[in-house]
Amino acid sequence: MDSKITIKDFKNLTCSELNSIYPLNEILSIYSILLEQRLNISKVEVALYPEKEIPSYQLLEDLKRLKKAEPIQYILGVAPFRNLELKVTPDTLIPRPETEELVELILQDSALNKKDNLQILDIGTGSGAIAIALKKELPVADLYATDFSIQALQVAKANAEKYNLNIHWIHHDILKDPLEVFPQSVDVIVSNPPYIPESNAPLLHPNVTQYEPQSALFVPDHDPLLFYKRIIKIGSTILKPNGKLFFETFEELQDSIVQVLRVFNYKDFHFLKDLNEKPRFLIASK
Ligand SMILES: C[S@@+](CC[C@H](N)C(=O)[O-])C[C@H]1O[C@@H](n2cnc3c(N)ncnc32)[C@H](O)[C@@H]1O
Repeated sequence: MDSKITIKDFKNLTCSELNSIYPLNEILSIYSILLEQRLNISKVEVALYPEKEIPSYQLLEDLKRLKKAEPIQYILGVAPFRNLELKVTPDTLIPRPETEELVELILQDSALNKKDNLQILDIGTGSGAIAIALKKELPVADLYATDFSIQALQVAKANAEKYNLNIHWIHHDILKDPLEVFPQSVDVIVSNPPYIPESNAPLLHPNVTQYEPQSALFVPDHDPLLFYKRIIKIGSTILKPNGKLFFETFEELQDSIVQVLRVFNYKDFHFLKDLNEKPRFLIASK
């Protein structure tokens, strides 16, 4: 029989085991997520019944993995994204809250969201988060999504199937594969490409550097604009007139990206801040 622990004792244990890895607010959030996802115990129940005894085996196994800095999303195999719950594996980046904002910027763009034959291309789709969220909210749009990782595309497909959404998945290396497999004329290219210079790795939390796919995160220090340059160039041929690029970016790279946009005659480019007030998104029109 599974041994038991009280909710209160499990909270204390979680705090003491994880306090060298995460700040208290994150520990408390991990603790609530575990109780909710593993035992279906809501935050209200937690507050009302701290003495309630709950099965401990799975929770203690999870704590062991959390102590090694493994992200809770990989332990549970799911991550929230907007109003979706997406499957994630170590082959896919864990979708971030900022990327939810990137989706929102496209949805709020009135020049786009009223079009009835909207064509959208998501480059480097990972778990499929951007493409799936857009297709769910814009069902009449045609969504194309690419990644060079077959494993990531399999996860993305499973996520789309879960929500019964039809998306064109394209296995494609944006840096070297030919473009015939792409739609030849699109209204939107959206991408959250790898953009962190390799030398910044030591600044990141070990739950990112030890567990998330390196190829989803990092670019060489000597060519940090690698993906942006390629996507901007491709956009200059496949975007429709007035079609738009939506990028998630790294603050330090933004001026250099603008220089590339100028070379390819894009217009109306502007940066937008994320909810943490960091310049994060770049929109440009062809
Ligand atoms: C920062 S992640 C973004 C994932 C997802 N779009 C999101 O926002 O959560 C970058 C994605 O680009 C993919 N990628 C990396 N190099 C690539 C390449 N050369 N061609 C196509 N995709 C690539 C990675 O596999 C990863 O899924």
